[in-house]
Amino acid sequence: PAPGWTTRSDVVVIGSGIAGLTAALRIRAEAPDLHVLVVTKTVLNAGSTQWAQGGIAAALGPGDTPLEHEVDTLVAGAGACDLEAVRILVTEGPDAVRELIDLGTNFDHHDGVLSLTREGGHHRDRIAHAGGDATGAEIQRSLIAAVEQDPQIEVIQHALAVDLLLAVDGGRSQIAGVTLHVLGEGQLDGVGAVHCRAVILASGGLGQVFAQTTNPAVSTGDGMALALRAGAVLRDMEFVQFHPTVMYLGPDARGQQPLISEAVRGEGAFLVDWDGNRFMQGAHELADLAPRDVVAKAITRRMHETSKPHMWLDARHLGADFWEKRFPTILATCRSHGVDPVTALIPVSPACHYASGGVATDLFGRSNIPGLYATGEVACSGVHGANRLASNSLLEGLVFSRRIATVLPGELRDWAEPVVDQRPTGIVGEVVRRKVQKQMTKRVGVLRSAEGMSHATIKLRGLVHKKAELIGSDTWEATNLLMISSALTQAALLREETRGSHWREDFPERSDARMAGHFDTVLVGDRL
Ligand code: SIN
Repeated sequence: PAPGWTTRSDVVVIGSGIAGLTAALRIRAEAPDLHVLVVTKTVLNAGSTQWAQGGIAAALGPGDTPLEHEVDTLVAGAGACDLEAVRILVTEGPDAVRELIDLGTNFDHHDGVLSLTREGGHHRDRIAHAGGDATGAEIQRSLIAAVEQDPQIEVIQHALAVDLLLAVDGGRSQIAGVTLHVLGEGQLDGVGAVHCRAVILASGGLGQVFAQTTNPAVSTGDGMALALRAGAVLRDMEFVQFHPTVMYLGPDARGQQPLISEAVRGEGAFLVDWDGNRFMQGAHELADLAPRDVVAKAITRRMHETSKPHMWLDARHLGADFWEKRFPTILATCRSHGVDPVTALIPVSPACHYASGGVATDLFGRSNIPGLYATGEVACSGVHGANRLASNSLLEGLVFSRRIATVLPGELRDWAEPVVDQRPTGIVGEVVRRKVQKQMTKRVGVLRSAEGMSHATIKLRGLVHKKAELIGSDTWEATNLLMISSALTQAALLREETRGSHWREDFPERSDARMAGHFDTVLVGDRL
């Protein structure tokens, strides 16, 4: 649709989690003259950061080193990480976390020393946490407080980013703005355009592609979809991580499901099957603290072998006092669903948790479109490879947003007149969301095969015809989910091997030879 209003800002940040708010704050610190606009789809704290439980990983403990953190990250990434990106993450990580502390984030301490815990795939205690198991909420609180103190950072809530606006300069596209669909924000209501000189995508992941996910309802792959429509390159879309221990709420449960943090296993909880067997023992040298793809596969395998809908997490021995102090949020959530983890086993099964792929970026968050940057879950710098190491996600947003801020002011282009694209964009109806989730969960979830995914491809193509009658946030989200599901399925079909979080039943082995020369699955809009 043609924009009904226009406004302008030097830089537009799309998304308001740790990646987006850090980018806004750091750009203002580096370039005080710039005006920064943060747009967010609902409210500032509705994204995934708010829900992060376990914490943020960095080599901050005595004896720990960035090199050890690097090794654990590379092992989890199953041979598909970008080494330079990982080195940057682990070496810049400790300072980035200290900066968060200086900003006012209250991490947990014991006798004046920062408390660090362990999660799957880590060989050391290196996860800083806050409020026990409410790390993301505390980080989000401190970042929002800092943003609210800066009058040069403007925020528009209830603003869904629809499409990027491009200008053409010497035959090459560059960012010139973004169209928004804003609901009830005074003068800026309905569809309008923000003209700008750079856009930073920090819009998070795509968990809502699947029927059960730990992600909030807003995680509908919007940033990846609008980047793809504008000609940006997506990378590694097949590497979607399933968190092993998500509370099982029954066969009909849909949408966001309660996460039982890996930190609970880090503190001694363990998995058992329905006969009480500890099936992770002997399955990996780290047993219940193996990397999460290993644990998710072991749970799924045992569910299939025993024809059960879930497995169990035993954390009774942690005791009531420890539960109340260390995991108050998870304790309350379990109890609200009728399970007291102090006396009963917690039913758990894997659910979609994190997109390791996304908009392909270099080491400073630059995409292939001049003026378009990406950071956090929407981006793919290659730092996670085929399987993200626990608690590296908050760190990634923090580290790479800081890096974008160091280069963006010097790279800003002049204002350019956008070419407003009026082509119909094929908006589908809200009903498509459910249908996409059904296909993706059944055929492109933890277990994948060419047969199942080809079938899903046909079904997804058919959904293009379910056109929207009225256009609103729900229909944009459904359109984005459909587009991103197609991209994910194409990438997963291309990768004919099993690696990290990508598990092919028809290609059960990891195959370095097969994938040699094209390790990254790369997609651009016109391939779909
Ligand atoms: C968790 O607390 O288990 C999730 C941490 C993460 O996804 O990195």
